[in-house]
Amino acid sequence: MALLTIRTYPDPVLAKTCKEVDSVQRPLLELAESMAETMYDGDRGIGLAAPQVGESLQLVVVDSDPAGQRGTPLFLFNPRVIASEGLETAEEGCLSLPDHFAQVERATKLVVQALDREGKPIMVEASGLLARCIQHELDHLQGRLLLDYVSPLKRALYRKRRIKELKKATE
Ligand code: NI
Repeated sequence: MALLTIRTYPDPVLAKTCKEVDSVQRPLLELAESMAETMYDGDRGIGLAAPQVGESLQLVVVDSDPAGQRGTPLFLFNPRVIASEGLETAEEGCLSLPDHFAQVERATKLVVQALDREGKPIMVEASGLLARCIQHELDHLQGRLLLDYVSPLKRALYRKRRIKELKKATE
């Protein structure tokens, strides 16, 4: 396992639609474990999607347990929402979008179908924060970011700011 580098906007990998995983095997599991380690490092996030570490694959790692009880990540390969209900708007952030927050409307409850760490099909029922987190991470697999939920003006201003910051960082 290793700590991975988080890709940040406007890295093109974040805008791609991710490929399905053929089967869950060793190198993929190692990637998932490293993603979990990266997510827990510095207690920075409750979910991470593979494109955020540069891999355009349908894999997300989530753990929305309260602080102190975290440590059992859920690995979802090829996740699909098969049912959802309710709607709620709340603020979200993203490790790939430093200093950007957006109000996003999400389903409050959902059922997700995926392959687990053994490659077996599973159904996960989620509500509240976990449901929100899963929807956020599934967006990443479609190349959709929180920026897609804000106005074109806000998006353009953020893009300008990020490019300026990145230029500064490489000077
Ligand atoms: Ni994100």
